Amino acid sequence: MSDKPKVVVSIAIEDDLKEKISAVCDMHTVSSHDELLATVGDAEGVLGSPRNRADAAYFDSAPNLKVHSTCSVGFDAIDVSAATEHGVVICHTPGVLNNAVANLTQGMVFALALRLFPNEAHVRSGKWGRREQAPPLGNDIQGKTFGVVGFGRIGQEVTRRMQALNMRTLWYDVYDTPHESAPESEYRSLNDLLAESDYVSLHTNLDENSRHLMNADAFGRMKSTAFLINTARGGLVDQKALQHALETGQIAGAALDVVDPEPPAENDPFVQLPNLICFPHIGSATEETRRAMRELAVENTLNVLAGKRPPAPVNPEVLDS
Ligand code: DGY
Repeated sequence: MSDKPKVVVSIAIEDDLKEKISAVCDMHTVSSHDELLATVGDAEGVLGSPRNRADAAYFDSAPNLKVHSTCSVGFDAIDVSAATEHGVVICHTPGVLNNAVANLTQGMVFALALRLFPNEAHVRSGKWGRREQAPPLGNDIQGKTFGVVGFGRIGQEVTRRMQALNMRTLWYDVYDTPHESAPESEYRSLNDLLAESDYVSLHTNLDENSRHLMNADAFGRMKSTAFLINTARGGLVDQKALQHALETGQIAGAALDVVDPEPPAENDPFVQLPNLICFPHIGSATEETRRAMRELAVENTLNVLAGKRPPAPVNPEVLDS
């Protein structure tokens, strides 16, 4: 029986991080959510991912739990109110993935505007060599209007990138005063942003207020030449309404890094739509960014267990109580 606090780790981490945890904790690694559920009963800490759904029953089953640290910025898989009621600190990994997600968003803008994928497929299928007609022309990026929904850390970084491309930028958020470090950008109501933007890009948390923020009514307000970009969470979009908007030409196209559910059903016709490009949730998937996320997630866990303030708590009120 160890007198060190038990920590269950459900993500793959490097040896140096394992050593850091093992130096002060009794570390158990698990490889599935079911294994986590079977092991968490007497744990004081969990280091997990968005695959680890943590609801009230989960917190009931772990009466000693002090910290549940997710290796993600999004924490929609966690019932934060239940965690707070149970006195469990929830931690996440904001900041370190801003650039990675902004890079992907920027890549999506280039892909959509310049029709990169249809042109690449044209060459790959031999059509260029056979002198067959090329895909339609793309569009310039400069001078277009880019609307950011969710003007937090990632939305602000994306705004800076789009301004560097000489786009006009708009923002909407549930609050109407941006943080003082935010770039200058024009505020719009959501409906006005949808109507004015050539690109609508989602960078907001998923919760009960934002679920299906992009629904049939929202697509009806967008320009028929406009594109939707979603690198945040699939649940922000009513996917049936998006499918209808894409199939009927209500909007020009979409680039998604997230869908609902994930992964999509096998042979789901949605991901085959010709005016959709879709990636398998790779927004933070670079070596450097994932490493930084794992480091932060470990630091969050160990700080709480050592009675110190973690760098990124979601419910700091638990620490202050
Ligand atoms: C995040 O960090 O929330 C990414 O989307 C990975 O889930």
